[in-house]
Amino acid sequence: MKQTAQAPSNIAIIKYWGKKNSKLDLPFSSTISINYNNLFTQTTVEFNPKLQKDAVTIDGKSNAQETKRVSTHLDIIRKLAKIKTKAKVVSKNNFPKSSGLASSASGFAALTAAGAKAAGLNLKEKQLTALARLGSGSASRSIPSGFVKWEKGTNHQTSYARSLYPASYWNLDILVIIVNNNAKKTSSTQGHSAAVSSPFFNIRTKNLDKKIKKIESALKSKNFKLFGQTLETEALELHAIALTSIPPIIYWEPKSIQIMKLCHALRQKDIDVYFTFDAGPQPVLFCQQKDTPKVMVALKSQVKDIQIIKSKPGEGTTITSNHLF
Ligand code: DP6
Repeated sequence: MKQTAQAPSNIAIIKYWGKKNSKLDLPFSSTISINYNNLFTQTTVEFNPKLQKDAVTIDGKSNAQETKRVSTHLDIIRKLAKIKTKAKVVSKNNFPKSSGLASSASGFAALTAAGAKAAGLNLKEKQLTALARLGSGSASRSIPSGFVKWEKGTNHQTSYARSLYPASYWNLDILVIIVNNNAKKTSSTQGHSAAVSSPFFNIRTKNLDKKIKKIESALKSKNFKLFGQTLETEALELHAIALTSIPPIIYWEPKSIQIMKLCHALRQKDIDVYFTFDAGPQPVLFCQQKDTPKVMVALKSQVKDIQIIKSKPGEGTTITSNHLF
């Protein structure tokens, strides 16, 4: 039977950068993220005995490399369900994919939820998160709702994601700024394998547990300043690792830097706004409702040709009946 899932993209506030085990997608440290309420992937999966091979369409196009990655993930689902049937997969993003807005997170979360159900598996959320992780690490965090922690674990079963707080817990404003619509040149998978070559990688890993505790306490007390400062330090650290890995990776564009400086200038005027980035040039700003209009005015008047998507913390992956074929 055909099944469809809708999965949100997520923004990591404590990041996954470097794989301890690349076969199982196990991270060196636990990570924390927030789902977006309006950036998502919808995916329909149908196992069809008439098909000779998997047929995969993403945003209206078929691409051999993407089909291979999807098929590899479907093979894991088929093995679990003890079936051999090939599948038709149609997937659609409502945001530009491969631009650093985590389309692999929402993509693999939706594929996992729809694929597992279409294959007749009845998995619990925890099992779904671990399964999604095998497609893309960050996808595990797009399954549960709201504010999510991916426990690093030591094996497939213990490396899973769970909700820390529901989406409604903290009414934060999240501004996703698209400074560049082009697909990025270095995928996060390539970035992960280069990360361990940075001379700062071990120092980062050593300090991460302390930083996780700090952000967990900021979340618990809804201390926005501590939350923002920690989130920003974390993003800068990820990019410091990328910049100093071999080969070095420069994800930022001139406008990314302009916006970081703008956040610092706004903070001088007591407008509390903090930035983060994933593996791409797009800044993601966090602010509170009282400051959002001022941040928007500053962005629109000072930075040319950007697209701003206003988002908030959102729900996790759901099964829907809006089939794409
Ligand atoms: C910078 O989960 O996309 O966004 O497992 O190779 O698919 P793969 O990597 P992916 O890496 C995400 C990297 C990041 C940080 C994060 O989301 O934690």
